[in-house]
Amino acid sequence: MSQMKLISHIDNIPSTPGKFKMEKSPYIHRLRFHSSLAKLTFWSFVFLGLILVFFFRSTTSSSPIPSDLSRTYSWGGLAWEKRVRVSARIRASNGLLVLVTGAAGFVGTHVSAALKSRGDGVLGLDNFNDYYDTSLKRARQALLERSGVFIIEGDINDIALLTKLFEVVPFTHVMHLAAQAGVRYAMENPSSYVHSNIAGFVSVLEVCKSANPQPAIVWASSSSVYGLNTKVPFLEKDRTDQPASLYAATKKAGEEIAHTYNHIYGLSLTGLRFFTVYGPWGRPDMAYFFFTRDILRGKSIPIFEAADHGTVARDFTYIDDIVKGCLAALDTAEKSTGSGGKKKRSAQLRVYNLGNTSPVPVSNLVSILERLLKVKAKRSIMKLPRNGDVQFTHANISSAQRELGYKPTTDLQTGLKNFVRWYLSYYDSGNKSAQ
Ligand SMILES: NC(=O)c1ccc[n+]([C@@H]2O[C@H](COP(=O)([O-])OP(=O)(O)OC[C@H]3O[C@@H](n4cnc5c(N)ncnc54)[C@H](O)[C@@H]3O)[C@@H](O)[C@H]2O)c1
Repeated sequence: MSQMKLISHIDNIPSTPGKFKMEKSPYIHRLRFHSSLAKLTFWSFVFLGLILVFFFRSTTSSSPIPSDLSRTYSWGGLAWEKRVRVSARIRASNGLLVLVTGAAGFVGTHVSAALKSRGDGVLGLDNFNDYYDTSLKRARQALLERSGVFIIEGDINDIALLTKLFEVVPFTHVMHLAAQAGVRYAMENPSSYVHSNIAGFVSVLEVCKSANPQPAIVWASSSSVYGLNTKVPFLEKDRTDQPASLYAATKKAGEEIAHTYNHIYGLSLTGLRFFTVYGPWGRPDMAYFFFTRDILRGKSIPIFEAADHGTVARDFTYIDDIVKGCLAALDTAEKSTGSGGKKKRSAQLRVYNLGNTSPVPVSNLVSILERLLKVKAKRSIMKLPRNGDVQFTHANISSAQRELGYKPTTDLQTGLKNFVRWYLSYYDSGNKSAQ
C-alpha cells in the first residue's frame, strides 16, 4: 500500500529536470529528495528486472549447454550398495568383474547381457540422457534388470561416484561405451561431445589409474576416425588425422588420450573402431532405424549420393558380431601395470577395427527393408551433406581376426530381418510409438 502511495506521489512530480525546482520548505525539500530517490530506485528495479528477464529467456531458449550436463543424480546408501554388489557377483569360475559404461545404450545393453549370461559380474552405468527416446533406454534397462544387471544412473564425469563404485567392487575390467554418438547432432550440441567423449573419458581413466588394482579398459572408438581417408579398406595404421565431424574428432582425441594414460600410468587399453552397428534394440538416430519407421509411415526417406552420382556405402556390422568382438577384447586384455598412480612396466595398448568387410550401398539397405516390410519406400535422392558423413566405410579386420579370433558371421539380409522382427514387436506391442 505504502509503495503504491509513493508511486502515485512520484507520478505527480515533474520529471523534466528543468522543471524540478528547489522548494523553500525543508519538509517539502526532504520529501522531494526522498521521492526522487524512490523514483530512481523504482526505475532501476524495473530496468534490472527487464535485463534479468532477457537474460533468462536467452539462456533457456538457446543455450548450447543441455540440461543433461548439469543434472545431478542421487546414489549411495546401504540398499544401493547391496544392489551394486549383487549385480557384480561372479557366477563362473575365472569370471570377470566388469563395469559397463553406457549400459542403457544399444551396444552397452547387448554387451552387458552377454557378459552376465556367461557368468561374469556386471554393473552398468548410464546417465539416460535424452539424445534419443529415453523410453527405449528404460526398456533396455528393464531387460537387463530381469537378467540381474543393475544400471547405476549417473554421469561418467562424476569422479566421486566412480571412485565409490571401485571402493565397493574391485572391477577387473571396464567396458567403456558411454559416449555422445551421432555425427550431425554435433552442430546442434557440440558441448555434449566434449562432455562425454573427452572430459568423461578422462574421468573414467583418472579413476581407473588410481584404482588398486587398476582394471584393464576396453573402449569404443569409431570407424569415423578414418574421416576423409580414401584408401580402402581401412587399416588400423592408416591415417586418422582428417576427421569429418566433431564426433570423429572426439573419438580421435580419445585414442590419443588412451595412449597417454597407457604411457604414463600403465593402463591396459584397447580401442575398438566399430563400423555402423545395427540390430534389435538399436539406435533410433541411425538410418536403418528411421528408414524403417518412415517407410512404414509412408514418409519419404533421404538417400544420399556423393559427387558425380557416387554411391554412399557402409560396412554394416551386426550387433552380435560386435558383442563377440567386445568380449574377445575383454578376454584377451592383459592386466594394467601401474599402481598408486605409477607405471611399473609398459602395458598393452591396442586398436582394432570391428567391421564386416563388405560395404553395402545404402540404396541396397533400403531394398532389403522394402522386402522385409512389404512396403515400397518413397526414396528421395539427395546430395551427401558436408556436415559429418563420409561417402563410405570399409574395414580391414585382419588384426581383429588374428588377435581376437573375431569373425563376423551375420550378413545384412539376416541381420535386418532380426531387426525388423524386433522393431515390429517392440512398437506394435503396448503404446510405444517410434519417435
Ligand atoms: N552404434 C554404432 O554404429 C557405433 C559406431 C561407432 C562407434 N560407436 C560407439 O559405441 C559406443 C556405444 O554406442 P551406441 O550405439 O550403443 O550408442 P548409445 O547412444 O545407444 O549408447 C551410449 C550410452 O551412453 C550414455 N551416455 C552418454 N554420455 C554419458 C555420460 N556422460 N555419462 C553416462 N552415460 C552416458 C547414453 O545415455 C547412452 O545410453 C559409443 O561410444 C559410440 O560412440 C557406435
